[in-house]
Amino acid sequence: MANERIIIFDTTLRDGEQSPGASMNVEEKLRIAKQLEKLRVDVIEAGFPIASQGDFDGVRAVAGVIRECSVAGLARARKEDIDRAWESLQGAANPRIHTFIATSPIHMQHKLRMQPDEVIEAAVAAVRHACSYTANVEWSAEDAGRADMAFLCRIVEAVINAGATTVNIPDTVGYTLPHEYGARIRSLVERVPNIHRAIISVHCHNDLGLAVANSLSAVLGGARQIECTINGLGERAGNASLEEVVMALRTRRDLLPFEVGIETTEIMRSSRLVSTITGFPVQPNKAIVGANAFAHESGIHQDGVLKNASTYEIMTPASVGLATNQLVLGKHSGRHAFRDRLHSLGYDLTDEQLTLAFQRFKGLADKKQELYDEDIEALVEDEVVRIADHFRLARLHVTSGTRDTPVAVVALEIGGETRHGSSWGDGSVEAVFKAIGQAVPMAQASVLSLYQVQAVTGGMDAQAEVTVRLTLDGMRVNGQGTDYDVIIASAKAYLNALNKLATKRGEIRRGV
Ligand code: KIV
Ligand code: ZN
Repeated sequence: MANERIIIFDTTLRDGEQSPGASMNVEEKLRIAKQLEKLRVDVIEAGFPIASQGDFDGVRAVAGVIRECSVAGLARARKEDIDRAWESLQGAANPRIHTFIATSPIHMQHKLRMQPDEVIEAAVAAVRHACSYTANVEWSAEDAGRADMAFLCRIVEAVINAGATTVNIPDTVGYTLPHEYGARIRSLVERVPNIHRAIISVHCHNDLGLAVANSLSAVLGGARQIECTINGLGERAGNASLEEVVMALRTRRDLLPFEVGIETTEIMRSSRLVSTITGFPVQPNKAIVGANAFAHESGIHQDGVLKNASTYEIMTPASVGLATNQLVLGKHSGRHAFRDRLHSLGYDLTDEQLTLAFQRFKGLADKKQELYDEDIEALVEDEVVRIADHFRLARLHVTSGTRDTPVAVVALEIGGETRHGSSWGDGSVEAVFKAIGQAVPMAQASVLSLYQVQAVTGGMDAQAEVTVRLTLDGMRVNGQGTDYDVIIASAKAYLNALNKLATKRGEIRRGV
């Protein structure tokens, strides 16, 4: 008999984006959604359309381009939320409305201030209203991990009767233990008479570090949809991590006899993209996608892996898309080879973009002997994909030393004019940021809350990828910049963040 299928529901763009600091603009959401489609997730939860115009635009944009996955929009149990979600999903090939209401005594009493029967009534009304638009309706019992089991059974039965085709049982506060959570799911299977008419979904938060374990335990209890995020991004300690859930299912098929449709070789690329866009680094020892996840340091381990990789590797690096750092291109590679490589990495550039990227590639190849896929991706991201620059770095000069105060001088192109700035700083990066601040007054008003450097590849000649997080008037953005020189990468990241702030403020459109 064929193994049963587990539906992978990705909520990186909704619950993941709710992590403080992880907010994304519409273009960034689209890029992640396209990557999730390549990863072959079943459902992409693209946002919470009533929450803000940005959220609405993000869901609408994703719904307009994604064809292979269902696209979901979140809504509270309110008519206006559901209407707004449906409006944002108009372009979707397979739209899903996801409506939720709190179900634990704590939430019903203190947050909703509603009696249990009123909550059932509101949930049923919401599901009925959503079903007037589509048959693809998911209902979530917020804080189900702490709900009274008899009440949970009653409300689940009622929403299925109202038309919900997926019922989600979130452990919203990451409170449950694996055997307990699995038993909750099994109990729903045994006690809710119409449960066979819906898919049971699970949505686990990681407050006790148990989100993945709880999700797997729930599958053994009867759940057939897992909600998760790339890199485990999400509220507080995050959600169940997609890569861990999927690779556990793939690696332990002996005990978890289920199928998932995920293209696992796209996992590393998805992880890097989400980390770069959000500015949330992946810890080196993170399972599956951490830099050390497949690194063998001790002599005994290295010896074993060389003799037979399965001695210390339970899955292959290639199965999660970790290239074994193969040299791909060098300084003698031509434009054709470069374009072919870009194509296989999933980039289709216009001739003009290709010319720009190729010039940059040649410049990099002069400095860096060996160029890997990661270098090419970083270069294209930096040169071509990032938001069109209003503030552009024309020149940068920095002096610093053990006995000298760092001083930076910058020339920026801003809307056809050149503006200059110069400043000292306690460090070179500070001097550069202050110099930019002289030329862009908005920079002085913004607050820097994150500065992070990562090497794109290993080795002394690795490119630096810098992420900068800025806040201004309650708006928060992440900027990225990549360069062979860390100071130049920092200046680019800072300018990228300022460009995003300016776009958000609408200043560029008004020509200010
Ligand atoms: O954690 C949670 O309960 C949620 C729901 C809205 C599904 O994110
Ligand atoms: Zn959640």
